[in-house]
Amino acid sequence: MTTSTHQEGATAAGERSAVPAIETSRLVKTFGGTRAVDGIDLVVPAGTVYGVLGPNGAGKTTTVRMLATLLRPDGGTARVFGHDVVREADAVRSRVSLTGQYASVDEDLTGTENLVLLGRLLGYRKAAARERAASLLEAFGLTEAADRQVKHYSGGMRRRLDIAASILNTPDLLFLDEPTTGLDPRSRNQVWDIVRAVVAHGTTVLLTTQYLEEADRLADRIAVIDRGKVIAEGTPGELKSSVGAGSVHVRLRDRRQREQARRVLARALETEVQLEADPVALTARIMNGDARASVQASRALAELDAAGVVVDDFSLGQPSLDEVFLALTGHPADTAEQTDKEVAE
Ligand SMILES: Nc1ncnc2c1ncn2[C@@H]1O[C@H](COP(=O)(O)OP(=O)(O)OP(=O)(O)O)[C@@H](O)[C@H]1O
Ligand SMILES: [Mg+2]
Repeated sequence: MTTSTHQEGATAAGERSAVPAIETSRLVKTFGGTRAVDGIDLVVPAGTVYGVLGPNGAGKTTTVRMLATLLRPDGGTARVFGHDVVREADAVRSRVSLTGQYASVDEDLTGTENLVLLGRLLGYRKAAARERAASLLEAFGLTEAADRQVKHYSGGMRRRLDIAASILNTPDLLFLDEPTTGLDPRSRNQVWDIVRAVVAHGTTVLLTTQYLEEADRLADRIAVIDRGKVIAEGTPGELKSSVGAGSVHVRLRDRRQREQARRVLARALETEVQLEADPVALTARIMNGDARASVQASRALAELDAAGVVVDDFSLGQPSLDEVFLALTGHPADTAEQTDKEVAE
């Protein structure tokens, strides 16, 4: 028998590039005594949206800054489209764009002025820069605000302008560091639409977020990070099924009925029920059973009612990042580092 030639080497035309957009191996960054990034392995296939989900201080921004060549790793390796972020930083820079967690456009300039200025810096001729600015402002719903100074923009408008600025030169890889933190639901939806449009143009997106829902809506795969380490990785479906299909939050009229409510919920949902610090509140995770989460939740509510438990408030939601953490790590998301960080900044 002859040894086979390496068939996979000859990829068919139109097949997704075999070189990942990002590949890291045991990536490390320390600040003094803090291991901000503590051995992260990631593989982000080209043409996809990858979500990095984690609480304050998890190491999201530090990871992104190393991948974008803004920060030198202390250990391990990272490649962007096959180029090493340290030794081939120029090649990496020519293919990536970063929209930072903290906005970078000039407050005193108008939307148009900001984009034209950046376009000129990127080498566009004046007319082409104006044209590109106008079409991006239109695509991002900012035409009416085009001639207004950015300091008079709302948070959502600013974030959209930021993303517009970062795709002036359609990058192959776009980093979005918490693009919707602090935005209202409507602005958040607009940013999500923009991300989808960018991806439809073939750009790979690495997005960091503290919202499971956001990663779920946008990302093909998600890495959950905690204290500089990847603690879970997979598709949103895989992640959620390890965490449950949703969470039921109940508030009772009378705290003396809480024990009874706990028993009814535990039986109806076949799951463990948590008693909250608030003496009238309970939370139960819905696991992926045969019935949809909404069906299970309404059955649970009906059974509470039938048992004579008076319910003041009942809601069904996606598991929060806190619940994901609790399920994955057995401890709540640790945000104690936030204080350190604020001091560091
Ligand atoms: N320049 C710095 N000097 C010292 N410590 C830093 C520095 N940058 C980050 N850190 C520390 O590294 C850890 C990770 O920070 P990082 O900013 O990467 O977290 P994050 O996941 O982006 O958090 P957030 O959601 O708050 O943006 C934190 O403990 C932070 O205090
Ligand atoms: Mg950050």
